Amino acid sequence: MTAPKRIVLSSDHAAIELRQAVAKHIADQGWEVMDIGPQTPESTHYPIHGKAAADAVASGDCALGIILCGTGQGIMMAANKVPGIRCGVCSDAFSARMIRQHNDANMLSIGARVVGEGQALDIVDAFLGADFEGGRHATRVDMIES
Ligand code: RB5
Repeated sequence: MTAPKRIVLSSDHAAIELRQAVAKHIADQGWEVMDIGPQTPESTHYPIHGKAAADAVASGDCALGIILCGTGQGIMMAANKVPGIRCGVCSDAFSARMIRQHNDANMLSIGARVVGEGQALDIVDAFLGADFEGGRHATRVDMIES
């Protein structure tokens, strides 16, 4: 089965504006964006939103996910609790490319209080532009999963 070219986005209150900028950026590239919010700035709890996005990826509904909170750390921890999710926090494009190529990451987390919009969009482009290399890396990813 071919995975849909659909990507889920979610965040907590600390990253709404950056999430919306990411959504526009990747929609302009042809991705079908499933932005599951939140849409209003009230304080909320990042584990709820990390899990919701991770469920959309783990179920196969979305091929990839991008999640954001203040640091990117808490929402990443929540997403990684969902079986089948491999999510890394990235503050640079090199790491974002490598978590796809070597770790077969299916989710990317970004800290909206850590990187600016320009850097965040570079990180997103690096993540979405890279593919898993397989081979010896597949052995290691299988080890993570087991
Ligand atoms: C919210 O203030 C903040 O704790 C959250 O966005 C995130 O940085 C947690 O990891």
